[in-house]
Amino acid sequence: MIRREILLSIGTLALLTIIMGTRRRLLQKLAGAVAGIGLAGCSALMEDDPRKRATPLDLPANPNADRVPSRQHAWNAFSRSDSAGNLLLPRHHLILLLSLSSEPSVDAARRVERAMRTLESAYDWSSDGLFHVLAWGTEYFARLDALDSAPIHRPTVISRTDNPKLLDFDAALVLASDAPSHLRAAESAMFGGNEKLGSVEVVDRLRDVFDVDERRTGFRGRGLPVEHTDAEGIPNNPPLSEKDRMFMGFRSGLRGTQASEDRITIESGAFTGGTTMHLSHLEQSLDEWFDALDESERVARMFSPEFSQTDVAGFTDAVPFADAVREHAREYNVVGHQEKVAQTRRDGKPVILRRDFNTVDGGHAGVHFLALQRSLSDFERTRKAMNGWYLRDDSPSITERKNNGILNFITVVSRANFYVPPREKRAFPRL
Ligand code: HEM
Repeated sequence: MIRREILLSIGTLALLTIIMGTRRRLLQKLAGAVAGIGLAGCSALMEDDPRKRATPLDLPANPNADRVPSRQHAWNAFSRSDSAGNLLLPRHHLILLLSLSSEPSVDAARRVERAMRTLESAYDWSSDGLFHVLAWGTEYFARLDALDSAPIHRPTVISRTDNPKLLDFDAALVLASDAPSHLRAAESAMFGGNEKLGSVEVVDRLRDVFDVDERRTGFRGRGLPVEHTDAEGIPNNPPLSEKDRMFMGFRSGLRGTQASEDRITIESGAFTGGTTMHLSHLEQSLDEWFDALDESERVARMFSPEFSQTDVAGFTDAVPFADAVREHAREYNVVGHQEKVAQTRRDGKPVILRRDFNTVDGGHAGVHFLALQRSLSDFERTRKAMNGWYLRDDSPSITERKNNGILNFITVVSRANFYVPPREKRAFPRL
């Protein structure tokens, strides 16, 4: 009730000031008036240019603005690539899952923005330096009473064979670098006591505003899986070598199998310039994968039964897609992961951008599956295609898990959804 009255008086103030023609001062006044209280509904009143914040933070212009792209998810042009033009993700990853320690306010937004600028000033925006993304979760939008109009929703169970924890966070800080020391230093500057980050003095920290609820760590790249084969879920002496980048062996992320950053960017409305992020934790059980299946059986399950090991070795920047999953089910009694998920391509192009990485969190082999897409429904359709329920009548040998891509070897532990705002709105979007 009290809040409604405050909102009503803010509305009256807004009207008067617009009449006086001083809209900018009004926005500043509103920012001051609403600092420290809930903000439900206000931002809708103030929205005009989707690239601008609803409430200006009145900070100096970002001094790093010409060194970093506006899209926080724009990593590709700043990443390493191989000789075939496939982008290589940074080798080390850390995701901190966060809850707010106080209600959203303009003061907290200023601190967050200044803290993020510290990260930006300390490292280049590159794999050698540091990529960072501040994403906002379902809990945050629920606090603003704005979950219904947000581009994300609470996670749901999407596969019948799993019983994942459905998690809600206020935010997530995604950090990625080739240098593990950069991740440690950035974490310590933001949530610990490091007073300097590189040569940059640390004044504002994310810990002033957030608590860390969970940490997700991992790695991706040549030679890294083989260093971690003592994790649970991996049999003794798996056939992994220095060349392998992922626990299951094969190469993933060829450029023809990934959506472009443009394809995953939201193009209109209040969330323009951002994207959605799904994060799931998958555990892997690779005993049977490595011990009971030979290489050609693994190829059939990962890609498609129509491919041989030699075919897969020849894939340089794309995987051919015959769109014949049901025919393969009938003919071979087994279907591949890639051929199922590729069915959700639009106009022949993938719709999700995968930035997943291996993990041994909890002492168990697994994957933190981070997927970016314009709409969460792109991810959900892809996951449903991966479930393969539609193959039920095509082959009795294909069950919910068996002979059904890689489903027999993974278990979904948890899911969470986030919105990744453009950089200009990364501190408390919609506020
Ligand atoms: C342990 C987990 C997983 C592993 C090891 C894995 C591995 C792979 C591999 C090897 C490929 C083909 C090669 C390439 O990426 O260039 C692929 C493609 C793909 N995967 Fe996965 N994957 C996993 C989980 C998932 C999940 C959970 C999803 C989404 C629901 C997914 C969606 C895709 C998509 C969309 C493609 C590209 C399809 C296309 O070519 O259009 N993957 N994956």
